[in-house]
Amino acid sequence: MSSPHDIFLKLRNLLEKHNQFFAESIPLIASENIISPAVKEALISDFEHRYAEGWPGERVYAGCMFIDEVELIAIDLMKRLFDAEFVDVRPISGVTANVAVYTAFTEPGDTMMALSIAKGGHISMGKKKFGGTAGAVKGLNVEYFEFDEERLNIDVDATMKKIKKLDKEGVKVKLAMFGGSLILFPHPVKELSDFLKSYNIIVGYDAAHVSGLVAGGVFQHPLKEGADVMSMSTHKTFFGPQRGAIASFNKYADQIKRAVFPGIVSNHHLHTMAGLAIAAAEMLAFGEEYAANVVKTAKAFGEALYNKGFDVLGVNLGFTETHQVVMDVTKYGLGGDIERLLEKAGIIVNRNLLFNDPKRGLHYENPGGIRLGVQEVVRLGMGPDEMDTVAEFFKKVIIDKEDPVKVRKMVAEFRKDFQEVKYTFVSGAKAYEFIKLF
Ligand SMILES: Cc1ncc(COP(=O)(O)O)c(C=O)c1O
Repeated sequence: MSSPHDIFLKLRNLLEKHNQFFAESIPLIASENIISPAVKEALISDFEHRYAEGWPGERVYAGCMFIDEVELIAIDLMKRLFDAEFVDVRPISGVTANVAVYTAFTEPGDTMMALSIAKGGHISMGKKKFGGTAGAVKGLNVEYFEFDEERLNIDVDATMKKIKKLDKEGVKVKLAMFGGSLILFPHPVKELSDFLKSYNIIVGYDAAHVSGLVAGGVFQHPLKEGADVMSMSTHKTFFGPQRGAIASFNKYADQIKRAVFPGIVSNHHLHTMAGLAIAAAEMLAFGEEYAANVVKTAKAFGEALYNKGFDVLGVNLGFTETHQVVMDVTKYGLGGDIERLLEKAGIIVNRNLLFNDPKRGLHYENPGGIRLGVQEVVRLGMGPDEMDTVAEFFKKVIIDKEDPVKVRKMVAEFRKDFQEVKYTFVSGAKAYEFIKLF
């Protein structure tokens, strides 16, 4: 049997191999990104070891003076980035931020409206029967926004009709959560906010995916379009550590603060909080350029894939206004099988349920779609010019059925020119270097 020390060495080796694997692959998972070396430093600082429950200045533990100062800077930077009166940076993930929003604005048994998973919603907004957080954890009754499959977006008129009908039947919607995991175009927050508010519905927006694009000023700004509250992850298009945040207005500050602590976090992982502060400073300095490049690159990628023969969603709508590009791959197989084939070629993507999949009997384990996100490759320095090459790798593997192991060699060669993290205060740092401290 291996000794604990041998197991430790094996673990270290696995981590190192993982980093090497990513250094040679094309990372296109839409919910991921890479952090800068400055953020990495924060993650291994002493903040990692500490506790600081509560709000800065009102902590339950001693020893927090520097932690308080860092957290206040994080709050201030996030308020500037999202032009928000109030921000809470303590949620430790996007789901945690959503649970805090539900806690602040609803009671168990209330009704919430969101997109179904097939139409782009996230499991944290899901019904109880699917184990979704809103239903199974918070006891909310979930009703779905109506969806227009042509326009790949929430159907404004049909949603209004549905809310009127529910109201007549005595079902009062308490919270409407826009946003989602599959999001190609801005949601109709502007178009629906006044209507929703006339029914006393709190307007929420889950910006887990698009928070970096909102901060960079290239995507809809939910709080300016009528949303009362916006939850987010800070590690998808927002290139910080894995964490969450909530942005809102002063009038809701007390109820959100109380929902976050003591509601959903006690200690809130101070090293990633510090990392978020640094990432927010980077976002303030480089976010506009980065976010504009992300959207331009995603559009170019959609077009390149389309030109190679793929069924890319949104052909008549410019493919995308976010970091995401979505393909229906059923001409060539199913999403899960194609995900695994691409992985063999060093192309990392995730399968995704498409809007019409439930109708054609497809399930999330092997759905009809592939979701792609360009935010991480943009952080590595790629842009619209590289997208034809990346799309050609897809064609070789999926359409031409070339040996993925052979394609993998080409992918690794191509990746050699894209090893550094861009849009940071520090230049020249290797994105996937395994940092050895001993
Ligand atoms: C719309 C949406 N909300 C919430 C989450 C959960 O975020 P986290 O993984 O930070 O908890 C995701 C994750 O991908 C998401 O897509």
